[in-house]
Amino acid sequence: MDEARFAEVDRWIERHLLPEDPILEAVLGARRTAGLPPIDVSPLHGAFLGLLAHLVKARRILEIGTLAGYSAICMARALPEDGRLVTIEVDPRHAEVARANFARADIVARIDLRVGAALDVLPTLVDAHHAFDMAFIDADKENNAAYADWAATLVRSGGVVVIDNVVRAGRIIDPADEAPQIAGTRSLYAAMRMDRRFEPAVLQTVGVKGWDGMMICRRL
Ligand code: SAH
Ligand code: DHB
Ligand code: MG
Repeated sequence: MDEARFAEVDRWIERHLLPEDPILEAVLGARRTAGLPPIDVSPLHGAFLGLLAHLVKARRILEIGTLAGYSAICMARALPEDGRLVTIEVDPRHAEVARANFARADIVARIDLRVGAALDVLPTLVDAHHAFDMAFIDADKENNAAYADWAATLVRSGGVVVIDNVVRAGRIIDPADEAPQIAGTRSLYAAMRMDRRFEPAVLQTVGVKGWDGMMICRRL
């Protein structure tokens, strides 16, 4: 495997394709200073999420797993002025860093940060049945099948649901690997295969976050 090379190429593409972004740099800086784990989406994946939000003309976006707000900012920037992104974070320390980052990105008004375990918060959003145009699932992988089920309820027909980290360096096919996160990811595949509400696809990825992948589903 050529992990270092993949990461170098990712950085090269970033430098040669993306505009400089002092705000996102500061967001990552604040995440680092606060000692939060470096598990935000990569800059190129952030650009991809923003692109998807534009493609589905998103006015309402749901995110599960905020961390320091990096992916939330990438998506919220694609919203119109009166659009809303609801993002759910269980760790109050992470939420605090994210809140400061939303202010830093001057995007506070478009973001509704809910602090709590996603499975407790999601039922409070049912008034918004089918009101979301997009969902990004990137929290505890153990609950991914349950989160996808919630996304089916909350995302409108024609909307898009993206689930991060569905390859995990190939660990999903190793029968000896019984880590709960990996088992949760396998359950997600099993659930998606049976689920008539989604048209799913997976893209494997390499780059600064190693070898992983994203599941991208259209809500039918
Ligand atoms: N989407 C972020 C990264 C999220 S990291 C980005 O790309 O910038 C995963 C986050 O999910 C962590 O902050 C973790 O605290 C949070 N999380 C873990 N379990 C959760 C749960 N049950 N409910 C809500 N958030 C959870
Ligand atoms: C981990 C979590 C993520 O969401 C990610 O994108 C990468 C790594 C982790 O928990 O290790
Ligand atoms: Mg992730």
